[in-house]
Amino acid sequence: MSDKVVLAYSGGLDTSVAIKWIKKKYNLDVIALTINVGNERDFSTIRQKALDVGAIKALVVDAKGSYVNEYVFPALQADALYEGEYPLATALARPLMAKLLVDTAREEGASVVAHGCTGKGNDQVRFEVSINALAPDLKIIAPAREWGMTREQTINYAQRYDIPVPITVASPYSIDENLWGRSIECGVLEDPWVEAPEEVFTWTRSVGEAPDKPEYVEIGFEKGIPVTVDGQQLDGVSLIQRLNELAGRHGVGRIDHLENRLVGIKSREIYEAPAATALLQAHQALEAMTLSKSQLRFKQKVAQEYADLIYNGLWFTRLHQDLAAYVQSSQRFVTGTVRLKLFKGGCPVVGRKSPFSLYNYGLATYDKADVFDQSASPGFIHIWGLPVKTQAQVQPVADSE
Ligand code: ARG
Repeated sequence: MSDKVVLAYSGGLDTSVAIKWIKKKYNLDVIALTINVGNERDFSTIRQKALDVGAIKALVVDAKGSYVNEYVFPALQADALYEGEYPLATALARPLMAKLLVDTAREEGASVVAHGCTGKGNDQVRFEVSINALAPDLKIIAPAREWGMTREQTINYAQRYDIPVPITVASPYSIDENLWGRSIECGVLEDPWVEAPEEVFTWTRSVGEAPDKPEYVEIGFEKGIPVTVDGQQLDGVSLIQRLNELAGRHGVGRIDHLENRLVGIKSREIYEAPAATALLQAHQALEAMTLSKSQLRFKQKVAQEYADLIYNGLWFTRLHQDLAAYVQSSQRFVTGTVRLKLFKGGCPVVGRKSPFSLYNYGLATYDKADVFDQSASPGFIHIWGLPVKTQAQVQPVADSE
């Protein structure tokens, strides 16, 4: 009896060819594992295809709930945005997929796992570093990195072995999608000077087509987690789906990012992430109201570290656990409601409220309700400015070169 391998199976050309290729090259029985993270597809057809191509078993796991609750929401609480642009949809899904590969390998008694990533991207790193962290004993194979076939040769291989070639193969774009966002690469997008053509977008309307009337949406948060839309309680998956639709209709969440990959190259990426864009904006607005100035300053540094570690495949590390503990603690009072105005590609924050608001009307107002003691200001300025004054007396600023 041959040993078994669990393959992360998308149903696309590469992973379908991989089922056959692995069997021939390594003589391993392939168990196909398809993971649903909100990339809505016909999963029963995908499953059947895996079996038709030669998998001994084909599993489909609905992981939308764990994706949202264990990966996306912690990243939202951290305000993770890679290079200030990319909400990390793909990068967040990979550690979850790696974990499910490992779990399945254990259940099925397989000593090998496989993924369909090429040797040029970030995803191979995320898969393999995550697998190493969870199961250092498992062997990993990466057919699409090993076989050295061009796109055309892969199609020929498929035809030779009666593997159905999906019509999407005709599309010049490489697309990955899940609930938190959609990424589009290749084709004309590889010229960073060329504007992304309208055809690459499927979740968002163009600004021109977006409604001429603004729409308001209120998002309620509890401890940094979004729980309501316009007062209606929703589970995380439905909440994100609702916002993708709502914000997408107004053209919110198109991102054109010239990105620094972990493997050392710059690549041009187009993203659509309506819900992520709206939620990150709303969450930050609520933090601005409920965290102190110094908490906010420190948290911004954490946010960047957090985004980098997600991007760089370091989800299953002690560093992540440490940062996550800080983030959780920081969210204790991030409860309240934010109102966004969806209009022509933007979603500015136009209102916020919280039972834990640090905004104090009596201190802020210029009306008669003012309780701020202005007579204390001269003393404050005297001491605050003391080192500046002392230095200026001996080293006049005006004189300096
Ligand atoms: N550049 C993004 C990232 O590294 C998106 C990658 C999309 N992956 C893919 N296999 N098409 O997270």
